[in-house]
Amino acid sequence: MPEGAGSVHPVGDSVVTAQFLRSLPSLAGPLPAFDPEAAPAEPDPLFARWLSEAVEAGVVEPHAMTLSTVDPAGRPSARVLILKHLEGGRWAFASGSGSRKGKELANTPWAALTFYWPLLGRQVRVRGAVEAAGADESAADFLARSPGARGAGLIGNQSEPLTDFAERDRVLDESTARAAADPRLVAPEWTVYRVVADEVEFWQGEEHRRHIRLHYTRDAEGWARRLLWP
Ligand SMILES: Cc1cc2nc3c(=O)[nH]c(=O)nc-3n(C[C@H](O)[C@H](O)[C@H](O)COP(=O)(O)O)c2cc1C
Repeated sequence: MPEGAGSVHPVGDSVVTAQFLRSLPSLAGPLPAFDPEAAPAEPDPLFARWLSEAVEAGVVEPHAMTLSTVDPAGRPSARVLILKHLEGGRWAFASGSGSRKGKELANTPWAALTFYWPLLGRQVRVRGAVEAAGADESAADFLARSPGARGAGLIGNQSEPLTDFAERDRVLDESTARAAADPRLVAPEWTVYRVVADEVEFWQGEEHRRHIRLHYTRDAEGWARRLLWP
């Protein structure tokens, strides 16, 4: 617990006070240096380097990222997913096409991804159009999952209302047994999506607010880089 936080409790059961929140440190450091002058011309190699550094620093689940999508009215929703692959400026993740995110992406194929690695004070933001991979690639991703994960995927009702945990357990057990019995069984809804990045920002926090923001944008000519005010 941070110093002082033990004595400054949130008030009541449903109020989180500004005083308590102010007592929690953020960007406490020590944080690594980042020289944007030495950054590569394209964002992928910089992301690969930052991800390795996050792993070396002991960041838990550094490949977890927030995926933001919008509904037909332009209202955003966000959730955490795992990055599956990055190549050629295409950031892949996998999910069910019938889920809330799947429906939102079918309607508005644009998304943002956000990584945050607190131990390094680093954030990476990605934005771009979303494409769905072909059935073969999605099936290969599905088949590489564990029997439990394939069992869960085979149910195919992610984001639907659930009324009963016993029903969930029964269906999950049944589905996992089916997946284990037939390792070639593929959930038809399982889809690998790729965010085709046209913007990637690398954000390095600094204790005295001298944060560094390196913003890459892509057009027909290729990638360009510039700094942004923090
Ligand atoms: C660390 C972590 C990793 C996750 N990875 C995935 C994933 O790769 N694919 C997925 O569909 N959901 C994943 N989830 C669950 C999603 O956050 C989310 O609950 C689910 O996809 C339903 O989202 P939706 O209702 O907005 O479609 C993960 C959750 C966490 C916390």
